[in-house]
Amino acid sequence: MSLGPVVAAVPQSCGESLCVFGTGDMGRSLGQRLLQSGYSVVFGSRRPDSCVPVPRGAQVMSHAAAAQSARIIFICIHREHYGFLQTIAPQLKGKVLVDVSNNLEKDMFPEANASHLQRLVPEATVVKALNTLSAWALQNGPSDSNRQTFVCGDSAEAKQAVSEVCTRLGLLVLDRGSLGASRELEDFPLQLFPQWRLPLGIALGLTAAFFFYLLIRDVIYAYVVDGKDISFRIMVSLANKVFPIVSLVMLALCYLPGVMAALLQLHRGTKYRPFPDWLDRWMLCRKQMGLVALALASLHVLYTLIIPIRYYVRYRIAASTISQVLKNQTTEFSQTSAWRTDSYYSMGILGFGLFVLLGISSLPSVSNSLSWREFSFIQSKLGYLTLFLCTLHAYLYGWDKFLRPTSYKWYMAPGYLLSLVLPSVVLVLKLLLLLPCVDRSLTRIRRGWERGTTQ
Ligand code: HEM
Repeated sequence: MSLGPVVAAVPQSCGESLCVFGTGDMGRSLGQRLLQSGYSVVFGSRRPDSCVPVPRGAQVMSHAAAAQSARIIFICIHREHYGFLQTIAPQLKGKVLVDVSNNLEKDMFPEANASHLQRLVPEATVVKALNTLSAWALQNGPSDSNRQTFVCGDSAEAKQAVSEVCTRLGLLVLDRGSLGASRELEDFPLQLFPQWRLPLGIALGLTAAFFFYLLIRDVIYAYVVDGKDISFRIMVSLANKVFPIVSLVMLALCYLPGVMAALLQLHRGTKYRPFPDWLDRWMLCRKQMGLVALALASLHVLYTLIIPIRYYVRYRIAASTISQVLKNQTTEFSQTSAWRTDSYYSMGILGFGLFVLLGISSLPSVSNSLSWREFSFIQSKLGYLTLFLCTLHAYLYGWDKFLRPTSYKWYMAPGYLLSLVLPSVVLVLKLLLLLPCVDRSLTRIRRGWERGTTQ
């Protein structure tokens, strides 16, 4: 079936005229997108006859004349130049001024740019919007960039008008309330991965702690006590211990706050009392914590893949084979070792597979396509199963090593044993929460029941 020639979609003109003050990158990109979305655009410029080229189809006028041609004016100029707006205050009376500005640093000025603008032109209505989008993002269209834009302002009507324009530009509008929120909005573009700081800090701290612990226990001990220099092991063997250990601990840290929250609700007998701030913050960064843990687990898998091609490993295998040949002896096949190694590899592979699934399902494009029930099934049920499989992998890897006195060098326990403490605690607590009598109480509390009230 022929669908006929494909015709490029031309946006219908909505007939409304919008004004943009400023012909810099932001002003021109915004003007272009407004034109593409069907608006007529008038630029306000200090030098209308000699300003930089504006997008085709737009008009350029003096600020005062441009202001009179539209109800909504986008102020795409730096805060330092807002002063001249006072000189055209009569033309701005009753207009909606959209402040898109940002600052170079936090707390650069005592008041937010949008509040400052409102104070300069009190007879206009200021709305803060579009400041979290770059000129580049506006030019390339919402499919190539972040689609969200925050809007705040004191007039619901003005916010509604600006939101309608943003929606027509293909943006997703999030109302942040009154103009008082504009300082927070102006700080957003200055924040560098705010939700990643805690997870990355924990990962770095744990990595450093376990690295030095294992360096002392494995490398320095061998040098001091046995006189052996095995410092080359730092590069692969040590890394392949530190990364999985930190990954497993961080995976447990993703599930510990949920268990703690449940215990707190059981203890308090209500779900209506807020959690402590630290627990809230911890719960909010679980996704990032899980993704960092997944990245570390992936490094462990890559390091594991190269084990057979390592010079040291090939040397050890060759030396052992030659020694057996010379002695005319063969090491006996151990069913237990075969079962143990195959089992821990298998648990590692299954755990890693589910770990990747958890990571994929936490991507916004995937999680948005899942219902809440599906998302919670993957993140909670499969999440605990992942933790269980990875923990079992480490238990099977360690097997009975923890019983041997030689495993405690300078009284320091093997790394894998330390990595098992937190996951085991989380899994045992989760099992306790799953006991029918405990589960029943928790479900009642989560449905709104409160201890001490008659219902
Ligand atoms: C240890 C393989 C996934 C946690 C090991 C070792 C191997 C291995 C060969 C022993 C390393 C050595 O001798 O130094 C695998 C494979 C995986 C996998 C093939 C999946 C494809 C995971 C995952 C985790 C994990 C997803 C946890 C999140 C650990 C831990 C150790 C370990 C804690 C003990 C480290 C030590 O103290 O030596 N794994 N693993 N593994 N693995 Fe995995």
